Amino acid sequence: MKDTPLILVVDDTLANLEVVAEVLGDAGFEVAIATDGERAIKQASISQPDLILLDVMMPGIDGFETCRRLKTTSVTDDIPVIFMTALSDTTDKVRGFNLGAVDYVTKPFQEAELLARVTTQLKLQHLRQTLEQQVEQRTADLQKALQQVQQSQVHLVQSEKMAVLGQLVAGVAHEINNPVNFIHGNLAHVQGYTDDILSFVQLYQQHSANAAPELQKAAANLDLEFIQEDLPKTLTSMKIGTQRICEIVRSLRNFSRLDEADCKAVDIHEGINSTLLILQHRLKSTPEHPAIQVIQEYGQLPSVKCYAGSLNQVFMNILVNAIDALEELSAKRTYQENQDHPSQITIRTAAIDNQWVQIAIADNGSGIPKELQQRIFDPFFTTKPVGKGTGMGMSISHQIITEKHQGKLVCLSTPDQGTEFIIQIPTQQ
Ligand SMILES: Nc1ncnc2c1ncn2[C@@H]1O[C@H](COP(=O)(O)OP(=O)(O)O)[C@@H](O)[C@H]1O
Ligand SMILES: [Mg+2]
Repeated sequence: MKDTPLILVVDDTLANLEVVAEVLGDAGFEVAIATDGERAIKQASISQPDLILLDVMMPGIDGFETCRRLKTTSVTDDIPVIFMTALSDTTDKVRGFNLGAVDYVTKPFQEAELLARVTTQLKLQHLRQTLEQQVEQRTADLQKALQQVQQSQVHLVQSEKMAVLGQLVAGVAHEINNPVNFIHGNLAHVQGYTDDILSFVQLYQQHSANAAPELQKAAANLDLEFIQEDLPKTLTSMKIGTQRICEIVRSLRNFSRLDEADCKAVDIHEGINSTLLILQHRLKSTPEHPAIQVIQEYGQLPSVKCYAGSLNQVFMNILVNAIDALEELSAKRTYQENQDHPSQITIRTAAIDNQWVQIAIADNGSGIPKELQQRIFDPFFTTKPVGKGTGMGMSISHQIITEKHQGKLVCLSTPDQGTEFIIQIPTQQ
């Protein structure tokens, strides 16, 4: 409210105007006047009075119509209107209230009553405005608080999830590593022994004509020839198997990087490859989904100083989302359509300059509708069914890239064509 409230008095009778203006002026109010409805509306929208005293009976548009119009424009609809009426008819008073008037005074005026009503309405209006401001302020405060709570929740979930997952993965990897290593290591010896025994058996076979009949009979029952052929093959496939386990264990350790909780220079491609290996089972074709091709267009990257475990988590989140989107789209397509449009994830890496590297992960999946693209980095935003999506992946990833690594993470997406996430991070922290 201004220091001196401005009151607009509208009346076609000059004598009336003068009386009211004098009373109000003497009481310390600023007064503006208008002599008909149209002018009153114009003036009200320009000078924004704090209150309007409005005569009912006027030539042209009457007070009721003036009030109705004032209440239909946003510039003037908040200004309290008090009707001045010579009518003592209740229906008219009620009609005024229905049109949005806050009070009425009857002519001829009692000076004290007029002032009392005007002052009361001004006070009420002031309180209303203050209240509105307070509500707005509180709402803004609450919204900010909510955002902070969500952010810290993301922090908590992220650190807790990473800690638990990292420990679990590193623990399992460690426990598997030892036994696999001794199986793998001993397989070399077993192969050596087997070669020796097989040579010996061969030698025996060459001289078996002179062997005791029991030995000859036992050899025939054994199907020695089959064993001689199959044993080396069995050993080879066991070796391939243990090799594969060793690789997965190495990837798991690389992925969790529990030993590297702090910032270290790493090979980004190694991180991406480990993550891909862990996701193999989701890239292969299943009865429900066709296979997903992964196209790796790796450029020359310098080693990058980063929190490798966290960064791998980002690759994982983005890749899992891409796989989800590809599965969603392929489920909607016919077999032939899927044959014509194979599911693809393309990973491109490049050094932007001496200080920055870029990793772009694109899929040709279902894409993200324009109106949702703003929201995918919000904590808990998910379009997936309950139990499948948490809505945390992208918000965690955003935090890891922008806050932990001072980098950038943007999303480009065209519905039904696909989505691309572009990560840019500095090579030194
Ligand atoms: N590659 C993508 N293709 C289509 N939609 C995506 C992709 N990545 C993210 N989204 C959208 O962003 C939302 C949020 O992702 P995210 O934070 O990882 O949570 P969640 O995967 O648990 O739903 C997803 O529910 C999905 O709607
Ligand atoms: Mg996700």
